[in-house]
Formats: sequence, C-alpha cells, structure tokens
Amino acid sequence: MPTTAARALLLFGATGDLAHRMLLPSLFGLHADGLLPAELRIIATARSALDDGSYRAEAGAAIERFIDADRLKPEQVQSFLDRLSYVPVDASDPDQFGALAEAAGPDKDALAIFLSTAPSLFSATISGLAQAGLAGNNVRLALEKPLGTDLESSREINDAVAAVFPEQRTFRIDHYLGKETVQNLLALRFGNTLFEPMWDAGGIDHVQITVAETVGLEGRASYYDDSGAVRDMVQNHMLQLLALVAMEPPAQFNAAEVRDEKVKVLRSLRPIDQSTVSTNSVTGQYGAGAIDGAPVPAYADELEHASTTETFVALKAHVDNWRWKGVPFYIRTGKRLPTRRSEIFIQFKEVPHSIFASRGAVLAPNKLLIRLQPEEDIRLLMMAKQPGLDRDGIRLREVPLDLGMANAFADVRRRIAYERLILDLIEGDPTLFVRRDEVEAQWEWIDGIRNGWAATGVTPKQYAAGTWGPSAAIALTERDGVSWHE
Ligand code: BG6
Repeated sequence: MPTTAARALLLFGATGDLAHRMLLPSLFGLHADGLLPAELRIIATARSALDDGSYRAEAGAAIERFIDADRLKPEQVQSFLDRLSYVPVDASDPDQFGALAEAAGPDKDALAIFLSTAPSLFSATISGLAQAGLAGNNVRLALEKPLGTDLESSREINDAVAAVFPEQRTFRIDHYLGKETVQNLLALRFGNTLFEPMWDAGGIDHVQITVAETVGLEGRASYYDDSGAVRDMVQNHMLQLLALVAMEPPAQFNAAEVRDEKVKVLRSLRPIDQSTVSTNSVTGQYGAGAIDGAPVPAYADELEHASTTETFVALKAHVDNWRWKGVPFYIRTGKRLPTRRSEIFIQFKEVPHSIFASRGAVLAPNKLLIRLQPEEDIRLLMMAKQPGLDRDGIRLREVPLDLGMANAFADVRRRIAYERLILDLIEGDPTLFVRRDEVEAQWEWIDGIRNGWAATGVTPKQYAAGTWGPSAAIALTERDGVSWHE
C-alpha cells in the first residue's frame, strides 16, 4: 500500500457544486490548520475555459461563501489560492489529458486524484489518465457516488477502474464515513467495555436508523429522479451506518480489518424480495405541504412532471447471523420531512423482571441515541427514581446520561466530513473508504428490493411535505409494537 503523501491533488469537476460547497472549503480548512503537505499543489480541472487567475477568483468566492468570516484570514486565503492552478480538459476526450500530465510535471508519480464528475465520465477519465501516464504506482484515485445504479452497472464501473487502479489505490467515498459521530460510534463500541457485552440479540430489542432531510430537489432533478431515496441514501450512507452498528469487533483499526467486518454484515442482510417487500418496505413521495411554516410544492411540481420515484423509504431489515438473530433494524430516510435529523437509536431489552411493578412504577427500556445531525449528541436514556417519599407508590422516570459532546469538546472545531477524507486520501489511508466488495454487497441487497417493487407494482404513497412520510411507515414499526423515535 502506498503510504507516501501525495505531492499534487488533481481535482476533476473543479467548477461543480460539490467542489464549491465542500471540497474547496475542506481543502482550505486543512490548509489553514497547516495539515496539508507544504509542497502540495492542487491542480483543478473541468471543461470550462478558465485560466489560473479566473479559477482562483472562483475558488476564492466559494471559500468566502462557505467558510465562516471569522476563519477567513486574508493571508491564509491568499496562500491557499496560490496552491491552485487550473487546466481546462474535456474529460470525455482522453487525448486532452496530456495537458494535465504537463501541469503535474514531476509530481505525476505522486498524485491523489479526486473525481467529482458525473459517473458517465469515469471510464473515459480513467483511460485518459492511463494514456497520459497519470496512473503510476503511487497514484491514488478517489471516486464520488453514484457508483452505478445497480449491481451490474456498479461492476462495470469497478472493472473499468480496476483495469488501471488496483483496489488498494481506489478510494470510494461515502462522505458519511468522514463524519465525526460516525467514527465515534466505533469509539463508543470498541473504546468502552460497557456496551459490547450486551450489543447483541440478548441485550438489544431493535435498532432504528433515521436520516431525515427538509430539503427537496435542490436543483438536482434529473439525477434524483433517476435515483430515488433507496439508491441515493440507503444503498450507501445508511447501509454503512448499519454495518458499523452491527459489525463484529475488528482486531485492529485499519483498512483491511474494519472493511472485512463491515462486508460480513452487508452479506448477512436478509434479502427483501417480492415475497417480503410489501411487509418490509414502504415508499413515499412528497406532495405539497409546509416546512418550518413555509409552503413548499409537491415533488411532481418541482420536477414539472409526474414521477414514480420515491422521495421516502422505510425498511425493516435483518442481519442473519448469531449476534443479531431476531433483531429488526428499521431504516428510514426522506426528503421534505419535518426536520433535518440523522440518528441511530438503539433500544435495549426490558429488564427481565420489575421489582417495582407492585409499587406502581412503570419502567421504560434503556435507549442509546447517537445523533449525527444537526448537532452531535450521544445519550443513554436510563431509569431513575423521581425524588420524593413515595407514599403513593414509586415513580421512576427516564433521564438522559448525556455525553455532552458539544461541551466536552467545545474547543475543537467540527470539521466538514470531506476534510478527514481528503486528508486520508492525500496521506494514503483507505480505512474510511468503501471497498469494492462492500459496494457490491450493498447493491445486491438494494437490487433485490427494487426488483421486488417492480415485480409487485409498488408505487410510492403520497405524504404531505413536512410530515414523517406516509402513514404506512408508522404501521411498519407499530405492527411490531415499536414506535419511531421522534
Ligand atoms: C448525498 C445525497 O449523498 O447525501 C443527497 O445525494 C443528500 O441527496 C446528502 O442530501 C445528505 O448528506 P448530509 O451530509 O447533508 O446528511
């Protein structure tokens, strides 16, 4: 595995939305904190006919827009922009890549390449890189999703990549793995003795994973309408979260061990197919409604035509292995839900026998809440006695044991997920990137669900924007006596 730091970062799609909103601000954050190798150059490329000066102006504007003013020190902004150069290339034409090789010069053997472009360009880009000698033994390639639309197309992309870049140098991005709380899940599970002994079917009743968004299409109509919630969010981010919750303890925190354990979970997911989709899945599409009191249009109106794409999905999944026998994993995600909130909610089993029942006390099972967004939060809900003399019986109440992440680490700036991932790419650590076998296991499970929907003619049910999806999503858990955590 190459572990030498890259000397140049080659950024494809450098004029795109992701580059503006996330990648340039992340690179600036790393630069300002002195974390980028001093000599690292950033070679930006896209189709637009810009030169170094005009691209630097564009990058400067993006940084000003997306970085808080108090972090914008003019000399740091300038020294960051000085790292940037720009080479216009039509990535669909491999003959144009010579200009990139020229710009990379002697650094072409120590490149980190980031493809933030449409997947339709991946194959041509990879050929262009190989043809121009930009795929040497120390060159790493990072790819943004979507990596295909199903197992077959994902294999095609993976094969095209593998023809030039071996797996150890292929860094598939799932930006959820760059989120601090997602990594904290590993710290919580494997840095403490407290949870692991009961982290199984003996101790846990069920798991819920929710990624709720208030946004709608956000100008990505054609991508999103071809994708839908299950492919946009479940296939990648949510299955990665599930794998981290459910995996066995890896022997080491390194790329091979962590990913070996995740892929075992992904391969143990019980298939949901045409015989089980109707009981284990619910899809929805938002109609008109209101978010934060402001009216928002229906999905079909935003799109300007009718569509059968799901903007909401709820699933009941099972991991068929010894540890998780009989434990449901409820997953839901959607656009235009009432609030932006991503969380993992773990409900433990009830106490086997309540000694307080005869004194009128009602017990609630313990719960662990790991919130990723909008702010990090980890809390354990426990029963405690309400103060008093208990003349009318004992009263117990659920109280949070709060990790107080915001206060405990108040002095530490929370970074954009991409800061971590870009730095790992530059330094060559693939632990937080997704391996081919994981992506393919994820697609295999998702394809089963989608084929089940197609075979049984499932179409999304309407829900009003600003609500928690169609009522069938509530029934999905209520049937098991479980309520969604809200
Ligand atoms: C992206 C999806 O992968 O993740 C978007 O394509 C979604 O549709 C986004 O909005 C959510 O990311 P985050 O970090 O805001 O939760």
